[in-house]
Amino acid sequence: MTYPTEKAAVVTGVGAPSGIGRHIARRLLKDGFDVAVGDIQFDNVDSFVEEIRTEFPERKIIGLHLDVSCEKSVTQAYEKVAAELPQLVALVNPAGIACPIAMEDISVEEFDRVFNVNCRGTMLMMRGAYKLMKPHGLGRMVNFSSITAYDGGGTFSKSTYAGAKAAIIGLTRGGAREFGIHGVTVNVIAPGPIDTEIMGGKLTDERKAAMSSNIPLGRVGQPEEIAALCSFLVSEDSSFVNGDVINADGGKHMH
Ligand SMILES: NC(=O)c1ccc[n+]([C@@H]2O[C@H](COP(=O)([O-])OP(=O)(O)OC[C@H]3O[C@@H](n4cnc5c(N)ncnc54)[C@H](O)[C@@H]3O)[C@@H](O)[C@H]2O)c1
Repeated sequence: MTYPTEKAAVVTGVGAPSGIGRHIARRLLKDGFDVAVGDIQFDNVDSFVEEIRTEFPERKIIGLHLDVSCEKSVTQAYEKVAAELPQLVALVNPAGIACPIAMEDISVEEFDRVFNVNCRGTMLMMRGAYKLMKPHGLGRMVNFSSITAYDGGGTFSKSTYAGAKAAIIGLTRGGAREFGIHGVTVNVIAPGPIDTEIMGGKLTDERKAAMSSNIPLGRVGQPEEIAALCSFLVSEDSSFVNGDVINADGGKHMH
């Protein structure tokens, strides 16, 4: 189906200044989307909205004070999107948290927190977007897993994060089956190590080198490279890609 002239995207996880979410938002603005950008770091959402309004004065941009794990917060966010932006075509869902605690030490509370943000958050964002996309018979959703989902844990995150990121693959495939008949596709990106601060702070050159040793491309990824993949997955051109897991890891995990 052809895209409308005016189209909107929701992007979560834009609070972290060097995170993937901000790069995705900027990329989709360049691609011609009006955007709603959300995060639980409310001040950072507000300052980011100011920045991108200056950079993209021709686009409609709204900020969402959003906790993806909270049903009420997500409902309110979509009410704002429906009221203030054109037709919602795309949802990109990078909001997430890592967890470096091993299974033998993790509390039930921390386990639930990691699953609530990553999994419940992904489901609530998908469900809310679907309500707006279904009547138009058109939509693109992109979720975020990790190659950790296959490997059981990475350099920083352990089993709880691996489990939550594996569950996101199931949610994606379930959504792809349930929503596909109404023209809504759902795919999931599984990044390898990307140069952000999710692994407990800025990556030093030493740490990057250590993380790169088993990556065929010999380096960690840049958030712009993930944003470029999102750009394709939310475009008209990706119309027959559905329920897929796309690794973006420099070849670290091949299957
Ligand atoms: N960076 C990597 O190496 C890497 C690798 C594999 C997968 N991923 C995944 O990619 C996604 C983006 O990663 P990143 O590196 O940009 O992370 P990041 O930590 O830089 O950004 C994550 C953002 O999510 C937000 N967030 C956390 N809890 C939230 C909540 N309850 N509601 C709303 N927002 C919330 C944070 O405030 C932050 O702005 C994550 O889902 C992550 O698990 C990242």
